[in-house]
Amino acid sequence: MQTRKMKDLEVPVVGMGSAGTFDVAMEEIEVRKKILDNCISQGTNFIDTSPMYRRSEQVIGTAMEGKRDKFQLATKVWCSGKETGQKQMARSFELLRADYIEVMQIHNLVDWETHLPVLEEMKAEGKIGIIGLTHYSPAALPEMAQIMRTGRIDAIQVSYNVMEREVEEEILPLAGELGIGIIVMRPVGSGLLINNLEQQPNLTPLKEFGIETWGQALMAWLLADPRVTVLIPATRRPERIVENAAVGSVAIPAEMRDYILKEAQRCLKAGKYSLG
Ligand SMILES: NC(=O)c1ccc[n+]([C@@H]2O[C@H](COP(=O)([O-])OP(=O)(O)OC[C@H]3O[C@@H](n4cnc5c(N)ncnc54)[C@H](OP(=O)(O)O)[C@@H]3O)[C@@H](O)[C@H]2O)c1
Repeated sequence: MQTRKMKDLEVPVVGMGSAGTFDVAMEEIEVRKKILDNCISQGTNFIDTSPMYRRSEQVIGTAMEGKRDKFQLATKVWCSGKETGQKQMARSFELLRADYIEVMQIHNLVDWETHLPVLEEMKAEGKIGIIGLTHYSPAALPEMAQIMRTGRIDAIQVSYNVMEREVEEEILPLAGELGIGIIVMRPVGSGLLINNLEQQPNLTPLKEFGIETWGQALMAWLLADPRVTVLIPATRRPERIVENAAVGSVAIPAEMRDYILKEAQRCLKAGKYSLG
């Protein structure tokens, strides 16, 4: 597994998201334990969550019991108001059973002016490592850029994949210039870029680079951009962790990056993948 630097934090290039996939009843905890064990063995141990994802923080905290030191945790504050935010974050520490959280992000930029000074204080006190911002929508990117320019942000989390490329215009160059880490949400378009293919992509030229599946090709395309720091594909299947982690060891030349994009354009219909 290759690693990249997000400020002082060295992260694997492939981690894991948890929206939906870890919002499960405790009866389903065994599969989540297996997923997290695979994350440890495959090195995809950067885990993204949020209080927005209902039971996810609690399920992650429970499933990783006794193994906290094997993971890097990224969660979020997702509410308005200083006190409400502080309470929500305190609850996240409790649910995740953590006394330190590597990445604390302001979810969808909600009330960021209020939360940012609080996060700066928590960072100075050594409670969190990195301050991040997230938003899924292209409409929020101008505001995100404006906050990035304050110099107070260490990492951003944005939608980026072969069909959602709006961040290429301003956000990626700005992050590169300011040394801001990039966490990629929806690297496989919430599954749509694989499940809604109109035709099957030809993977033959990619095999010599160790790419066996279309999901891996989509993620290799993202990682071929050195400004991208970590991808966080979500999954309900333990075996998927092995498939996705394999991308962390491949490197493709520029012409293969172009090839993957062309295959995506050939096999997927633009306009059908507006994820909202
Ligand atoms: N505003 C925000 O901050 C925000 C918004 C959206 C997402 N996020 C974060 O980003 C994470 C990822 O986004 P996402 O879950 O929407 O999308 P995603 O990771 O692009 O897609 C996950 C879906 O794709 C499937 N999948 C994953 N790897 C695959 C592969 N190699 N081949 C085929 N199918 C594959 C999974 O199905 P299987 O279960 O079958 O593997 C799952 O249904 C979230 O979990 C969350 O942590 C943050």
